[in-house]
Amino acid sequence: MSCFSSADESAHYGFSVCMLLEQYRTELRWAEEGVVELGTGDATAIADVVVALPGLRVHSFDISPSSVAAAQANIEARGIADRYTVELGDFFDQADAAGGPPVSTVISNPPYIPAPDRDILMPELWGGVYGNDLMLQLLKAGYDNVIAAVASYSDPLTTVRTAADLGYRVVNFLAMGLDYGPYSSEPKVRDHIRRLCADGRGWAGDDGYMVAVALFTRNSDAPGDRADQLLRALQLPL
Ligand SMILES: C[S@@+](CC[C@H](N)C(=O)[O-])C[C@H]1O[C@@H](n2cnc3c(N)ncnc32)[C@H](O)[C@@H]1O
Repeated sequence: MSCFSSADESAHYGFSVCMLLEQYRTELRWAEEGVVELGTGDATAIADVVVALPGLRVHSFDISPSSVAAAQANIEARGIADRYTVELGDFFDQADAAGGPPVSTVISNPPYIPAPDRDILMPELWGGVYGNDLMLQLLKAGYDNVIAAVASYSDPLTTVRTAADLGYRVVNFLAMGLDYGPYSSEPKVRDHIRRLCADGRGWAGDDGYMVAVALFTRNSDAPGDRADQLLRALQLPL
């Protein structure tokens, strides 16, 4: 098993999570409750956020043993093991059973590679046929606030509509263009992405795609709804 590696994407995720946590500190109550994370990877992206925000505690889960090993080493090296903890296992099996005080915010750069099946370069990154299976599962998991990466080729229209049906608004987001990385340029994946986009299930350019890290909330303390702007930033026609 390998460890997820995509420097631009991880940097975008970490920077955006930091910005959104800082901007919505009071509304998200993270200084009191901490946050949970689906998918640690090597932990470097969020380790920098934990260093930058001294009141932040993150409890993270990853199904990849090599990722958890790398993450624990990186967290130790930064001296933040008391505030950034990592468990090996499926987020959806473990987060509920973890006990402790309720946490209302989950953060994630979830697996979002769309493909006909799990037989891809890094199977842990498979997001189902449309790429948004884990994102939809996360929105149904009962958290009031979901800060997550949404990719333009992973059926974002369904994601945003499902979020609205579940009572979430898009409070804010940060969008960035990314070049195709090793996982999305695998021929089987690239062909599948082309088909999805042709069917109106997303957008991708010749060389890259868009990823937005968005704050979805059901908390009335954080008003507004930028769902349409999010879809436009992801190049989706409304
Ligand atoms: C796109 S990577 C993001 C890693 C890291 N957060 C980053 O941005 O650099 C997604 C991670 O989610 C993990 N993952 C996949 N399914 C999971 C699940 N059900 N529970 C926990 N982690 C999962 C994968 O092993 C992978 O490390």
